[in-house]
Amino acid sequence: MTKPTIFVTRRWPAAAEEALAAHFNVTFNQDDRPLTKDELAEGFATHDIAAPTVSDVIDGDVVRAGGEGRCRMIANYGVGVNHIDLAAAETQGITVSNTPGVLTDATADLTLTLMLMLCRRAGEGERELRAGEWSGWRPTHLVGRQMTGKTLGIIGMGRIGRAVAHRAHFGFGMEIVFQNRSPVDEGAGVGGRQLAGVAEVCAASDFVSLHCAATPETRHILGREALAAMSPSAYVINTARGDVVDEDALVAALESGAIGGAGLDVFQGEPKVNPAIMTAPNTVLLPHLGSATEEARVAMGMKVVDNARAFAMNEALPDKVG
Ligand code: DGY
Repeated sequence: MTKPTIFVTRRWPAAAEEALAAHFNVTFNQDDRPLTKDELAEGFATHDIAAPTVSDVIDGDVVRAGGEGRCRMIANYGVGVNHIDLAAAETQGITVSNTPGVLTDATADLTLTLMLMLCRRAGEGERELRAGEWSGWRPTHLVGRQMTGKTLGIIGMGRIGRAVAHRAHFGFGMEIVFQNRSPVDEGAGVGGRQLAGVAEVCAASDFVSLHCAATPETRHILGREALAAMSPSAYVINTARGDVVDEDALVAALESGAIGGAGLDVFQGEPKVNPAIMTAPNTVLLPHLGSATEEARVAMGMKVVDNARAFAMNEALPDKVG
């Protein structure tokens, strides 16, 4: 039997590429450069399965090119699917899968990294030392704030939100408050309090961390009103998607001192970063590293393999989207 063809838009860790190649005729993007819209459309049209990532814009045109060609499945390498026109995929009869679960720990760990870097001023300290500007220990040097015992507000208590809450509560004795679109039982296992809305969470928190999916409903869920409810010492953390934060409102809040700082791993329109974010005070900025561990990135590839194999064998998909 001929193996189905699969179009992979970016390089994966070697172990995952090998597992994929064992089951499919794979077209890899050998030099790993971002593909143009035309290249994506061509790849979709000429393969049975496409495996894009968050950095590819899979809009209606690309999906239609796939549907009018050979593509019957989009096996996304990643959990978030906001870069894919899901409605167009449905219209074209193209099945979509993603990779939930395997990047939860990596993303939760990175969230805590940003929280600690912000409140302990680690980015500032590293920059100062590397610039040769450290003049020695003194009691008032780069004094930050303790994370232990503070209140963490979580927007979106799904897998990653819970993993962050667990680390913060059991590791750092933090109190947890949260907002979630549906009721969450038993305080999410961390004695958390579910509050009425985002502004209420912002008002009660020393750190506000976003973990909701990016959808039309969550676009700018952290906006001017919610930011205004935060205390001037409180921090915003975003490891979800750039679109869930109103970046203009965030910059205004940082510049006016209405909030204490922001730790951002994701940006609207990334990899371009709004220049005003670059120069805003009290920020820690990372280049979308949430899932960037060997363990997570290999496991994400294995999930793509599992879903694509299930699809090829006409079996139920482990991670069907929608
Ligand atoms: C995802 O899986 O959606 C991440 O953002 C990519 O790491």
